[in-house]
Amino acid sequence: MLKALAVTVISLTLGLSTHAAIAETLQAKAILHADKPGPQISRNLYGQFSEHLGGGIYDGIWVGEDSPIPNVRGIRSDVVAALKALKTPLVRWPGGCFADEYHWRDGIGPRAQRPVRKNNWWGDAPETNAFGTHEFMDFVEQIGAEAYVSVNVGSSTPREMREWIEYMTSPGQDTLAQERRRNGRDKPWKVALWGIGNENWGCGGNMTAEYYANEVRRFSAFFHKNQDNTGLRVATGPNGDDTRWTQVLMENAADAFDALSLHYYTLPTGDWKVKGPATGFSAKEWADTFARTLKMDDYIGRHSAIMDKHDPDKRVGLYVDEWGTWYDVEKGTNPGYLYQQNTLRDAVLAAVNFNIFHRHADRVRMTSIAQTINVLQSVILTDGAKIALTPTYHAFRMYVPFQEATSLPLDLTTPNAVVDGIPVPAVSASAARGADGKIHIGIANMAPRDSVDLDIDLAGLQVKAVSGEVLTADRMDAHNVPGQPAALAPAPYSGARLVDGRLRLALPAKSVVVVRLD
Ligand code: AHR
Repeated sequence: MLKALAVTVISLTLGLSTHAAIAETLQAKAILHADKPGPQISRNLYGQFSEHLGGGIYDGIWVGEDSPIPNVRGIRSDVVAALKALKTPLVRWPGGCFADEYHWRDGIGPRAQRPVRKNNWWGDAPETNAFGTHEFMDFVEQIGAEAYVSVNVGSSTPREMREWIEYMTSPGQDTLAQERRRNGRDKPWKVALWGIGNENWGCGGNMTAEYYANEVRRFSAFFHKNQDNTGLRVATGPNGDDTRWTQVLMENAADAFDALSLHYYTLPTGDWKVKGPATGFSAKEWADTFARTLKMDDYIGRHSAIMDKHDPDKRVGLYVDEWGTWYDVEKGTNPGYLYQQNTLRDAVLAAVNFNIFHRHADRVRMTSIAQTINVLQSVILTDGAKIALTPTYHAFRMYVPFQEATSLPLDLTTPNAVVDGIPVPAVSASAARGADGKIHIGIANMAPRDSVDLDIDLAGLQVKAVSGEVLTADRMDAHNVPGQPAALAPAPYSGARLVDGRLRLALPAKSVVVVRLD
C-alpha cells in the first residue's frame, strides 16, 4: 500500500463497528490514452431485468387502470419517468426461473378471463396474468426501451415459442397476427432479444450442457429469423465460473445463437444459506462483498477466452443478463419475494461492475441487473404509492454518458485498502469518449474508510475544465426509503484539479465519482 498523506481518526459511525479506525488517504495513479480508442460501449450494458417475482411487476410496475396511483393504462407513471431518466435501453422479461414455467397465452386477451396460476418459484404467489405480453410491450414503449423476451424451453415446446414470436411480430393476415389485433395491437412489435430459456442448468430444467446444446439447436430451428423477426437469440450461458458449460455450448451449438448469457450474483458471504444482511453490515462484510464482486472480471475474461477460440470475429455476444447483489431478505418479508434494501455499498458495487463491463465491451454487449424494482439489487423501491430511487439508481444515472461511448484505455495502479485484514483494491475506474464528444471517467472508491488521491496522466490531452458528480455518505449502509426524504443522492463534485497536464481527483471513502473533461 502506498504511504498515507493524511491520517484522520474517525469514530466508526460508518457501519456498525464500535471501535475506532485509522482513515488514510491512499495514492493511486492512472494514465489515460485518449488517442487509442477501444470498442464501443453498447447502451445495452445498462439494461434492466423484471421478473414476475415479489413486487417486481405487481406494485412495482403494474397497479391496474383503476388504481389511485397515477398510471397510464395500468402502468405506474412515477416508475416510467424514473426509468426514462436512466435512458433504460432494454428490459428482460418475464423471468428468470418464472420464464420456463410461463405460457404466454395465459397473459393475453381480456384480463378478467385470464387464468390465475400459482407462482411456484416465488413464494407460491397467485399469478393473475394481468400483466402479459401487451402490458409488457406497453411498458417498454412508455419508457422508450427495447424488449428482451425469454421463452419457455424447460417446460414447453418450439411450437409455443414460434407462435409467440409470430403473435408479436407478424405484419400479415395470419390468424395469430389477427388475434393480436383483436387484443388491441395492430402494428407488429419489434422484439430486440429473445432468450432461449433461462438457467437451463438449474431451474430451467436441470439440463446438462450437452442436452441443452441440443435443445438450443432444436428451438433455434423453429425460431425463423426473417424480416419480421429480426431479434437476436440469447442462449442460456454459464453460471459464474462454469467454463465447461461455455466450452460445450460454443463447440456444439454456436451457430444456433447470437449471444450466450452469464449469470453471476454477489453474495457477501458466498453462502446461499446465510448471505449477509443488506443493511447493518460490518466493514469486513463490505470488503468481502467487493472481493466477491471483482470476480466478475475474471469470469468474463475466462468465458471470453473460450469464446475467442471458437468465434474469433466476436459474432456471439456475452450477455451478463443477471448480475447484482443478493442478500438475506428483509425481516418480516416473504422469503420468496427476494426483497432487500439497497445502500451506498450497492451503488459502489454497481459502478465497479460497470467499469468491468466497459473493459470487456468487445464481447460484453448487453447486461441486465437483477432486478429493476423491489427485487434483489433494485434501482427503485416502492411501497404503495410511495417510491424511492436507490443508490444503485443513482449510479446508473451518473453512468448514462457511457451509453454508446467509445471506450478509452485507462492504465490504473491502485493501492489496496486493508479492511480487517482483507485487502481490497481501492479504486476501480474506466474512461470513454461519449456520444457528446467529451471524455468521461467513472470511478469507484471501494475503500470504506480511506479516501484516495487519484493522479491521472492525461498523456498530452488538453483539458480546460473538469466537472462531475459524487455519490457518497457517512454510513456504509446509507439508503433511501420510500416516502422518506432521500438520505443520499449525487452532489456536484469539487474534488478535481488540473496540474501540469495531470488530473488530480480527490475521492472520498466509499464513493462513486463521474467526471467530464472539457
Ligand atoms: O433473479 C432471481 C433468480 O435468480 C432468477 O429467477 C433466476 O434466473 C436466478 O437464479
